Amino acid sequence: MKWLLLTAFTLVMFLPSGETACYFPVEYQGVFETQSATTDAKLHKYSSITILPDAIPGWGVCKSRHGLSVVLHDRTTGRDCFRCFHVLLRSPNVIQVYTEPSSQCYQNEVSARASCPSELDISTQRVNEIMLYKNKTFTFEGTIERVFCPINGAYDFTYDVNDGLETVNECPQSTSALQNCPRGSELSLNFQRCTFSDVQMSLRCLGDWPGRDGARYLALLDTSPQSPDQPRYRCAMYIEDETTGVINLSFSVDATCNNQLKSPYQGYETMVLTPRAVVQPPNEVKSHACVFPDWARGKWQNLEILRHDVRLKDKTSDRVFQMECLSQHAPHGERYAVFARDQCGREEFTCIWIKKRAVNVIEFQMSNYPSDHYNQSQVCADAMFVGQHWSTEGRVGEHEVPSCPIQGEHSGVLPDATDLCAKLVSDCSSPQRMHYTVASCSNSSEVYEDREYRCLGRWSEGGVTYTYTHRIDVDTYECFAGVVVNTKEIFIIEAGTSCLRGLQPLAHGMKLVQRATCSDLRERAAATSTTTTSPATATASPNAPDNREAEMHPWWRDAARNPWQKNPRITTGRPYAVDQRPHLSSGQSFVLHWWLWLPTLMILAFSTS
Ligand SMILES: *[C@@H]1O[C@H](CO)[C@@H](O)[C@H](O)[C@H]1NC(C)=O
Ligand SMILES: *[C@@H]1O[C@H](CO)[C@@H](O)[C@H](O)[C@H]1NC(C)=O
Ligand SMILES: *[C@@H]1O[C@H](CO)[C@@H](O)[C@H](O)[C@H]1NC(C)=O
Ligand SMILES: *[C@@H]1O[C@H](CO)[C@@H](O)[C@H](O)[C@H]1NC(C)=O
Repeated sequence: MKWLLLTAFTLVMFLPSGETACYFPVEYQGVFETQSATTDAKLHKYSSITILPDAIPGWGVCKSRHGLSVVLHDRTTGRDCFRCFHVLLRSPNVIQVYTEPSSQCYQNEVSARASCPSELDISTQRVNEIMLYKNKTFTFEGTIERVFCPINGAYDFTYDVNDGLETVNECPQSTSALQNCPRGSELSLNFQRCTFSDVQMSLRCLGDWPGRDGARYLALLDTSPQSPDQPRYRCAMYIEDETTGVINLSFSVDATCNNQLKSPYQGYETMVLTPRAVVQPPNEVKSHACVFPDWARGKWQNLEILRHDVRLKDKTSDRVFQMECLSQHAPHGERYAVFARDQCGREEFTCIWIKKRAVNVIEFQMSNYPSDHYNQSQVCADAMFVGQHWSTEGRVGEHEVPSCPIQGEHSGVLPDATDLCAKLVSDCSSPQRMHYTVASCSNSSEVYEDREYRCLGRWSEGGVTYTYTHRIDVDTYECFAGVVVNTKEIFIIEAGTSCLRGLQPLAHGMKLVQRATCSDLRERAAATSTTTTSPATATASPNAPDNREAEMHPWWRDAARNPWQKNPRITTGRPYAVDQRPHLSSGQSFVLHWWLWLPTLMILAFSTS
């Protein structure tokens, strides 16, 4: 039997500060905006917080990580100050941070660690919550990632502000319109025939995540706020009625997710969205008799495939397509002519080509030349796909199948940084999982990267094996290309989010050599478990906290602090107040510290048996 695996890894390298003992994954890094404390309750002010690879300036240097909790060490006051933060990545652009309400400093790491908020503290809201909205990344042009709105299509809505000042329902009839058009990642709102004059606004979707009782949270950025009275960042809760498609949506009063936001039905502002009637498709479509194969059906990263139709979120064009199958075509019946309608109602005839790579991995291409009429002999012709590339898709909630090609422990040296050593270890009891670490070659306790991968599937093409993986901690997908030299030696290279072809793992990849088999690892584990106790469970009583210092020098500086105490009687009953001059003129200056990191490399592995 032959198998191989690959995994790639992005490593951000920089000059370690000397004190650093832990690192934030690259997905967490960037410049964020957060709501500041402000003396003027009428203004929504933001300050910026930077997450560097090894520190959050103002909060401290990364001392240790414990799952989602991280202990930061701040010495800028001249005294040791340790604090624990529970950090949740909610979307590529939204991070929620929880801390103890007292925000006090501890004199050592052990006491700080004992203060880490628990899941229970968080669910019962006995903690401080700080929302961080990403404003710049350290990659590409610094632009934040595009995220599709979970509310898709065209809706009519009613709108009500609950500011306690009046009993009027501002837009009692469904005369206003909401749609994610022309951009799938932005909600356009058109308030019409309300108690205030007509107004338009645009809210960029930053991410959505699960809340309580089937409701979800949604973070939004007002792309053109019309006055300083209006918050630029908004947090909302929504729930969709599955039978009617009606959505109840409520907003908090500011950039937090808990200030006057109780549920999708109860918030500072509430809306009820009613979907517009769907236009009937043309006659050709009604008579279709084509179905997608069983292996393709289900939820994928950007595709949802049912029996007759597909929904596609196309990041490149920022459009969401609903497509109905019309006819099946060569080669091997893998191409399907479809009638497509985007979220704006634009219609076209096009073709989707779907290839099965593994149970939990497919690849697809779209025709380059959509047409406004259906020509069955042309729509899926080879010429339509010239210049297209495969997009790789992993199954969401995939079937658990063992698909990691390495077994045991492999190690190697990063080709671009020869003082760093990589280690790839399979989870011998759970063969679809692998653990990847990068550490200093001279001191294995200086760990720069620590990742957990789930292998979704692998296949071979032209002597190269592609392995597609899901990184559980940051919910991202990565492809690795690898070549097996012999049973103990493999070369791997990162191949992007869609498996990039034409890479040369032997020439440019990382060499990994097997150091231990699964049975070696089991023996090793049995030997150590009899000699060591687990320090992780040690409980120490917290030292007396240094309250005096916390008062003198609040760790949050001018960052997110008690928006709760703000009197929210802000607006006049208009949505986000519209009749005042814009105030946001002063650009924040960012200290990007980009010289601290060099974007880098990736590694991979796989092997044979
Ligand atoms: C980042 O912040 C600057 C200044 O506050 C603002 O002009 C810009 O629109 C923000 N960008 C994003 C993506 O939020
Ligand atoms: C959600 O909106 C619908 C439509 O107006 C409304 O009838 C319903 O009461 C709302 N749900 C709740 C729980 O308020
Ligand atoms: C379909 O396209 C082919 C090639 O362009 C053309 O010869 C044929 O007439 C077209 N059929 C229809 C019904 O338009
Ligand atoms: C290795 O790194 C750890 C953590 O940074 C440090 O505490 C230890 O002193 C280092 N050991 C050596 C031999 O440098």
